[in-house]
Amino acid sequence: MSEIERVGVVGCGLMGSGIAEVSARAGLDVVVLEADQPAVDAGRARIETSLAQAVRRGKLSEDDRAATLGRIRVTWEADALGDRQLVVEAVPEIEPLKVETFRRIDKVVSDGEAVLASNTSSIPIMKLAMATQRPEQVIGVHFFNPVPVLPLVELVPSLLTSPAAAERAASFASATLGKHVIRSQDRAGFVVNALLIPYLLSSIRMLESGFATAEDIDTGMVQGCAHPMGPLALSDLIGLDTVMAVAQSMYDEFKEPLYAPPPMLLRMVDAGLLGRKSGRGFHQYG
Ligand code: 3HC
Repeated sequence: MSEIERVGVVGCGLMGSGIAEVSARAGLDVVVLEADQPAVDAGRARIETSLAQAVRRGKLSEDDRAATLGRIRVTWEADALGDRQLVVEAVPEIEPLKVETFRRIDKVVSDGEAVLASNTSSIPIMKLAMATQRPEQVIGVHFFNPVPVLPLVELVPSLLTSPAAAERAASFASATLGKHVIRSQDRAGFVVNALLIPYLLSSIRMLESGFATAEDIDTGMVQGCAHPMGPLALSDLIGLDTVMAVAQSMYDEFKEPLYAPPPMLLRMVDAGLLGRKSGRGFHQYG
C-alpha cells in the first residue's frame, strides 16, 4: 500500500484548519474543501493566522511557513478531492450534515484504498460508515483543539473498519504527523469526551445554580488542580455549540443524566453565545 502523500480535509473551521495545517507542516499535499468562496477565504485566513503565530513563537521558520502554505489548496470544488489517499471530515458536529458529507466524499474519492476519516467528537463512526459504499475504509481520527499544539489523536475503528485501513490511519497520525495515538471502541464520546464532557457540564450546572462565579470555578481548577484552563474557559475554547452537540450524542447513546446538556448551555447556544469564536461565552473575548 502506497504511503499517504495526498490528504483532503472537509471543513476549514477551528478543527479542519488545524488538521490541514499539521498535515501540510508534515510535508503532505493538502486539499481543503469548503462550502463557498467566503468560507474558502475565511478558512485560508484561519490557517495563515495560525502559521504566523507559530512563526512569532519560534516554532516555525519563515521559509517553512511559506512552504507549508504552498502545500495547501482551499477550494469549494469537491472534485479536487478525487485523487486523495486520505480524507478527514471536519464539518460541524451535526449528524445529518456529517452523514451527507460522507455520502459526498464516497462519491468523489476514486482510490479504493483511500481512508475516509472523521474528526467527529462523539458521533458513532458506524453511522458515518454506513453512508458510504465502503464502510471498511471509514474510521474515526479525532484531533484535539488547538490541533497544532495538542499531541493526542484518538483512533476509532468501527465494527466494519478493515485492519489495513486502521493501520494506515494510525501510521498517518503517529509516523507522519507525530501525534500520540490512543484507541477507542466506537462509543459516543470515545475516551476523552466521555470523561471531559460530564466535567464541563458539571461546571455549567455549578454556575447555573449560583454555587460560584465563572471566574472562581475556572480559577479553582487552574490554581487547585494545575489544569491549563478552567472548565468554562475550555468550553468557550471548544465552542458551546460543539459542547452541546457532543453532550447530546452521548445522551442519545447512553441515556445517562450526567450527559444531558443543562438549560443554561442550551439557551446560550440559542442566543449565539458560542464562546471564543463568537466573542462571548462564559467569558468575553476581543
Ligand atoms: N503552532 C505550534 N505551536 C504553537 C502554536 C502553533 N500554531 N500556537 C501555540 N503554540 C505553542 C506555543 O509556542 C507554546 O509552546 P511552548 O510551551 O513550548 O512555548 C504552547 O503551544 C502553548 O501556547 P501559549 O503559550 O499560546 O498558550 P498557553 O500556554 O496559554 O496555552 C492552550 C494555550 C494550548 C490552549 C492551553 O491553555 C491548553 O492546552 N488548554 C487546554 C486545551 C484543551 O484541553 N483542549 C482539548 C479540548 S477537547 C477537544 O478538542 C475535543 C473535542 O472533540 C471537543
